Amino acid sequence: MLIRNDDKDWNHARSSEITPLGVYQDRRQWIRQLAAGAAGVGLTSWAGRDALAQGATARPGKLPALPAAISKVAGAVTMEKPTTYQDASTYNNFYEFGTDKADPARNSSRFQTSPWSVEVEGLVKQPRTFALEDLLKLGAQEERIYRLRCVEGWSMVIPWIGYSLAQLLKQVEPLGSAKYVEFVTAADTKTMPYVGSGVLEWPYVEGLRLDEAMHPLTLLSFGMYGEILPKQNGAPVRLVVPWKYGFKSSKSLVKIRLTEAQPRTAWNKSAPQEYGFYSNVNPNVDHPRWSQASERRIGEDGLFAKKRKTLMFNGYEAQVGQLYAGMDLKKFY
Ligand code: MTE
Repeated sequence: MLIRNDDKDWNHARSSEITPLGVYQDRRQWIRQLAAGAAGVGLTSWAGRDALAQGATARPGKLPALPAAISKVAGAVTMEKPTTYQDASTYNNFYEFGTDKADPARNSSRFQTSPWSVEVEGLVKQPRTFALEDLLKLGAQEERIYRLRCVEGWSMVIPWIGYSLAQLLKQVEPLGSAKYVEFVTAADTKTMPYVGSGVLEWPYVEGLRLDEAMHPLTLLSFGMYGEILPKQNGAPVRLVVPWKYGFKSSKSLVKIRLTEAQPRTAWNKSAPQEYGFYSNVNPNVDHPRWSQASERRIGEDGLFAKKRKTLMFNGYEAQVGQLYAGMDLKKFY
């Protein structure tokens, strides 16, 4: 694999220009890491990723309102080293654009993210459609540095920007009968080449219990690394639920519906025995086809490196463990 060592296409703003937290890598460190991981992480798309890395991918630019501060929500900042922007924006799962990790960055340029609105409906007192511009202003934008653990066994650390989903849900006043929240995402056959394919049932739908959705760690995100979300990461607005496997973090949201019944979700419909509704990160409950006890950090752990241990609730147990008190997490996987 090619390791770049020149400056010309290194155009990513340094994190130090974005945030006072001095934990992001500088360029040299990034190159060293890439070299250390040069054996690859053993996943499918290095060739495609490299092709993307060489042609500077278009960057979406700054967010209108940059966060003034790192989040004060307990547990919302990990001190682990963030994954590079390059890795986080070229190694993606976004099946509407294809099933290869390089496909979302490669195939999403025609997807239109403006104008955009999100409808919030169902069991609420004040159903409402929010234009993106209004959504952006609803809560104070914060930076949160979350681990994201994918069900496939890899993880990243990403500085997201947004605010707690609870702030939006409070605006619409959930009714007492609301028990769950369903998240419906964009499904545009014209600009999303895999919508209509048999890979999943479209639109991609996810769900949370209402108390999970109201938990302060559940983030409605508009940006990452101090910039607008790239399309491949779920522009213009997505969810990030850091204690659950990555597929619960639905991208490019168009509708949020409060319901009494548990929503059927895209992955649960496609393989119910493999993907449950809860999907909390849990090293003690294996996926039927592989162990979930360990993970490989993208960009850091090479193919032959010892994998790192996966933490219960992805390391957010102190914050969210009480949501599941008394539940059999093998049964409710
Ligand atoms: N959202 C939509 N609409 N479609 C998808 O295919 N993939 C999920 C999730 N959200 C997906 C989605 C999966 S499997 C993961 S691991 C995360 O997005 C990946 O987010 P990232 O690419 O920003 O790291």
